[in-house]
Amino acid sequence: MAKYIPEPYRIKMVEAIRQTSYEEREEAIKTADYNMFSLASSDVYIDMLTDSGTNAMSDRQWAAVMMGDESYAGSRSYEQLMEVAHDIFNYQYIQPVHQGRAAENMLFPLLLKEGMISISNFHFDTTSGHVLLTGAKVVNCVSPEAADTENYAPFKGNMDIARLRELIAEYGAEKIGCIVMTITNNSAGGQPVSLANLQETGAIAREHKIPLVIDAARYAENAFFIKERETGQEDRPIKDIVRDMFAEGDAFTFSAKKDGIVNMGGLVGVREDADLIKGIKARVVPYEGFLTYGGLTGRDLGAMAGGLAEGLDEIFLRSYIGQTQYLGDRCLELGVPIQYPTGGHAIFVDAKKAMPHIPYYHFPAHTLCVALYLEGGIRGCDIGSFILDLDPQTGEQLEAALELSRFCIPRRTYTQSHLDYVAEKLADVMKRSEEFQGFEVVEQAKVLRHFTARLKPYTP
Ligand code: F0G
Repeated sequence: MAKYIPEPYRIKMVEAIRQTSYEEREEAIKTADYNMFSLASSDVYIDMLTDSGTNAMSDRQWAAVMMGDESYAGSRSYEQLMEVAHDIFNYQYIQPVHQGRAAENMLFPLLLKEGMISISNFHFDTTSGHVLLTGAKVVNCVSPEAADTENYAPFKGNMDIARLRELIAEYGAEKIGCIVMTITNNSAGGQPVSLANLQETGAIAREHKIPLVIDAARYAENAFFIKERETGQEDRPIKDIVRDMFAEGDAFTFSAKKDGIVNMGGLVGVREDADLIKGIKARVVPYEGFLTYGGLTGRDLGAMAGGLAEGLDEIFLRSYIGQTQYLGDRCLELGVPIQYPTGGHAIFVDAKKAMPHIPYYHFPAHTLCVALYLEGGIRGCDIGSFILDLDPQTGEQLEAALELSRFCIPRRTYTQSHLDYVAEKLADVMKRSEEFQGFEVVEQAKVLRHFTARLKPYTP
């Protein structure tokens, strides 16, 4: 059992959260058509829907907000951000944008077009959306270890190198617009990628002249895992590991709402390709705004400069990843099946094991989220068959390899007793899992339906 690491910060401002009764939650989730995204946050006690943009900023970041320079061009806040970002990533060109998906929108149309494919250790859903928007196809190529939630492997987020080689041979390198390495691998359970795997993928990309794009949303956590788990990396400063990671990429997209510890913001970076830099600049101005603000206010840029530095601090990372490990260990102790070992930003409950009587087309992972909301006012989300849309050709429900319910830990936001409460409520749900029979969709959009779909409980 992991010992809870005392937080390297103290609380200066608090935000009230409301505990509701079971009956109030029954009413609230019904009104929300059993969709976690339709719940009002005021009806949620512990919000683990995402770690994105839900982090607590520091006093220094709030000070930077007050000091924000709102000049249209060449603001001081932009300069501060560039100084920190260039020092971390060491890329020739780094461009602020309003969030991660905006970075994807700036970059992917320059790399992909109809008939091409993008290969990744796992495209996050907005990444996959932006690939599809270019007319290209997505292929996920994660290490088979990711599907085994029970046994320990240090880097379950890795690219399956043998499969990557096969895919390149199958499609032909000229058809592959990019290889995307997502660090950490969110969709596979927040699992890290080893430096060796990143280097091997980089070598293959260079050999075939395919650009390697790093989806860097949780890069700092990934670097921390490399230091903790990869032989030969244990004595190196996190910053040196980060430099080595990014040396493998040709470009990166970054949602600063995670490891950048801000509520909004992102970056897109290019290591040295002059044409790519020119292409992005030409897209930024009409879509995001002038180059020195890129869809953000001066105060946002200042807050991101601070957040980038704080998010890379080893003492902070140890405490944050320690929270995830603590919650994971509490769950295992209480018999709740989770993706093991725990990854960075969340615990992922294996809903195939927790709700074995519910078939994928009645969404076991979504059902577990509803059950936990009813039990304790805790909000998580489905990373399983529910977030896969219907097969566009056949209209059939697609089946996910893993049915995971994700419960994220926002950075610097919740305390040990909150995490104990979550583990206990999960254990209570396990005891009455038979009471739940799953859900069916009443109304859905064609793409990314999980944000807006209306559902109802399934009665056999
Ligand atoms: N890449 C990864 C790996 C992500 O997890 C996300 C967002 C994005 C890109 C897009 O970034 O939201 O700033 O546009 N993930 C959030 C989540 C939404 O809940 O995991 P964004």
